[in-house]
Amino acid sequence: MNAVEVTDLKKSYGKVEAVRGVSFDVAHGEVFGFLGPNGAGKSTTISMLCTLINPTGGRARVAGHDVVGERDEVRRNIGLVFQDPTLDSYLTAEQNLRFHAELYGVPKSAVGDRLKQVMEMVALWDRRDSKVSTFSGGMKRRLEIARGLLHSPRVLFLDEPTVGLDPQTRSAIWGYINKLRRTEDITIFMTTHYMDEAEYCDRIAIIDHGEIVVIDSPEALKASIGKDRVQIHTSDDQAAIAALKERFDLDAGVHDGAVTFAVASGEEFVPKLFAGLGLPITGVSVHRPTLDDVFMNYTGSTIRDAEEESSGGMNQMMRARLRR
Ligand SMILES: Nc1ncnc2c1ncn2[C@@H]1O[C@H](COP(=O)(O)OP(=O)(O)OP(=O)(O)O)[C@@H](O)[C@H]1O
Ligand SMILES: [Mg+2]
Repeated sequence: MNAVEVTDLKKSYGKVEAVRGVSFDVAHGEVFGFLGPNGAGKSTTISMLCTLINPTGGRARVAGHDVVGERDEVRRNIGLVFQDPTLDSYLTAEQNLRFHAELYGVPKSAVGDRLKQVMEMVALWDRRDSKVSTFSGGMKRRLEIARGLLHSPRVLFLDEPTVGLDPQTRSAIWGYINKLRRTEDITIFMTTHYMDEAEYCDRIAIIDHGEIVVIDSPEALKASIGKDRVQIHTSDDQAAIAALKERFDLDAGVHDGAVTFAVASGEEFVPKLFAGLGLPITGVSVHRPTLDDVFMNYTGSTIRDAEEESSGGMNQMMRARLRR
């Protein structure tokens, strides 16, 4: 049985079609990522899967239960870490978690052990008696992840778990997530717009304007682009472009101040290039396809362009989030 099954799921707010009929399955034990720019519909999809809002069309099952008809069963089986923080800052770390345990009906006899286990995992056991208001942004995020795990959910939803955090904290959080997949019987559904984070997922769905553009493993997505990008520096770019066409039948152009073209295997091509171009080359670099290239290939814009395109209100939201 799949952990998540989604068929033609839709959500509209008046004229805004936030999610336009997405379909996908997430296998038991998988780490599945939703990758897309601001406003793509990532949080809206998570909210429907977590029973916080009702779909306007389609169906979804989470941990075997329907998100509309069996809300309580779905809720009992999921953990959720929201995009925006939801801790009570005037309570201590432990009080926040105990409150949550009570809400979720974790048996009293089990709470103590489980609390220690999840707090140790995110390295906050020593700080359990500190008020959350004294925590850094990264510590709060780690505590929220611990809270999401407290009632041993079958499926954990993480909405941008690392946004606005420094690289060290981001990599620590990824360390916990990787540990989780080894130690707990859990499926993880996460969203991100960091390309490097999407690499940690078993599979990624690229979502843009409320629609899934493609779903596959990071490796397969990069392989589907197929070609390496080669950039060379020469003293005469136009002559180099003409020579690439004439001698290798390659179409090149100038990007980022370098003569740029694509070949199937950059490393094999570069020695031939030096031997056969007939012009001095002063510098060369070979780039394997990245998820940025994948996003560009499937949506026609870079993820940064797509985000800048979104409204001023959205940018304000981003700034607010980064300040957090
Ligand atoms: N409650 C709401 N009322 C009206 N429109 C909404 C509401 N929630 C979301 N939307 C719209 O739905 C679209 C998708 O929003 P959503 O929050 O799902 O995007 P996202 O992919 O999570 O973006 P981000 O990366 O900024 O978090 C946006 O156009 C947004 O303005
Ligand atoms: Mg969101």
